[in-house]
Amino acid sequence: APIDRGRFSNKTVFIMAAIGSAVGLGNIWRFPYVAYEGGGGAFILPYLVALLVAGIPLLLLDYAIGHSQRGSAPLSFARLSRRLEFIGWWQVAICVVISVYYAAILAWSVQYVGFSFTQAWGDDPETFFFADFLQAAETGVTLDFVPAVLIPMVIIWAVAIAVMALGVQKGIGATAVIFIPVLLIAFGALVVQALTLPGAIDGLQTLFEPNWAALLDPAVWASAFGQIFFSLSVGFGIMITYASYVGRKIDMTGSGFVVGFANSGFELLAGIGVFAALGFLAQASGAAVADVVAGGIGLAFIAFPAIISEAPFGALLGVLFFVSLVLAGFTSLVSILEVVISAVRDKLEMSRIAATLAVTVPMAAISILLFTTTSGILVLDIADYFINRFGILLVALVAMLAVAWAVRRVPWFADHMSRYGSVRLGRWWVVLVTFVTPVLLAIMLVLELVTAIGEPYGGFPAWMLGVFGWGVAGAALVAGILLSIPKWKATTPLEAPEHD
Ligand code: PHE
Ligand code: NA
Repeated sequence: APIDRGRFSNKTVFIMAAIGSAVGLGNIWRFPYVAYEGGGGAFILPYLVALLVAGIPLLLLDYAIGHSQRGSAPLSFARLSRRLEFIGWWQVAICVVISVYYAAILAWSVQYVGFSFTQAWGDDPETFFFADFLQAAETGVTLDFVPAVLIPMVIIWAVAIAVMALGVQKGIGATAVIFIPVLLIAFGALVVQALTLPGAIDGLQTLFEPNWAALLDPAVWASAFGQIFFSLSVGFGIMITYASYVGRKIDMTGSGFVVGFANSGFELLAGIGVFAALGFLAQASGAAVADVVAGGIGLAFIAFPAIISEAPFGALLGVLFFVSLVLAGFTSLVSILEVVISAVRDKLEMSRIAATLAVTVPMAAISILLFTTTSGILVLDIADYFINRFGILLVALVAMLAVAWAVRRVPWFADHMSRYGSVRLGRWWVVLVTFVTPVLLAIMLVLELVTAIGEPYGGFPAWMLGVFGWGVAGAALVAGILLSIPKWKATTPLEAPEHD
């Protein structure tokens, strides 16, 4: 008999899980920086356009695929057409790559919760992070062992495996229902504390001051679309998987708008908190805000430690910040792991526990081995850049084109979604998903390709970019194709189930 795939017990749990996936490191350490670089207050325009024209429509397409086909990414695509199954496995492979390094960032954040009390970084957070904490190799790849990261990595993976083993509702759903409100409280408290710091207003002014000229720069528009795609977790299997666990009569379109706006709301909140804190850092160090602006790893592990050292009640600020990173990131990690587990379960008809262990134990082993060596961060940096572009963006484009043009299912999906949806998906959605969003995605990809070929990313040697960048992104596609070859068991029907 077919396996019991599991389900979310109601709409709220599904929405929480979807918000849990969407709200991640991207909201906290990526958005504020991207918005600042993209024209500050003026960025609101390209950002809203990207959200409404591409982000939410693509989110709804993912929902439509998973909710109507009721399968993991590979099963859902196989049900649309056996020839499209490789897209689902390609998404699975991308999720494997991302989770291997996403877990490492979470582990560092766990460690930095503790460092917030001891201020282990002294007066040089940058040297501390790279040289003392990670013991990063300056050049080339070395495999020396760095024990400091081992314990938090084991903890993150152990907790993640336990959550995955508990299943869709008791594991993923319950985690999101607890973590998301706690995250909101913790980050809300951080924003309040940051706003009381001297210099906070300068920070906000720097973020929101509109640079209208930025609107004429195509790169700014591209970065708005890039931020939205990454931030909503669309196009690489996550939302297909989660939607397949939702009851048939649930309002999926209304849910999509709630998730989209909740994610953007959290980005705005993060922008305020982060720039208020950066405004303080600028004042404390006698610099201009523009000179202390940072994003990503630099923001979390270099700028924030400096802020924590200077601020009154700095330890509290640090705990709130790093706990927020851990909570936001963990619910995202869980969502990418589920893409993989769900796919393996569907194809091999495995039990929850068996599939969880078969998938996560090897991934944990690779992740821990890679990131307890001195080269972990170099690999992370390169793999992240390439997989975001020539993994996530590319597979999203291929998936859209396949659904819209190979199997021509978009109008059918509009009907499916409108059946119980509070927002009707009419012609506007069909036109967006069939023509507008694919064209925009294709333009972005070409721009990214030109950049990536024109200037070697991060000045890394060609062989490293070849192996950890192009190689990893290409391997995900090849893996997708290979994994789609084996036949399905006779017990898993490949026709999509009826409407209700
Ligand atoms: N949407 C997440 C964020 O904004 C990103 C993400 C989620 C990446 C899940 C990978 C997997 O941070
Ligand atoms: Na996000």
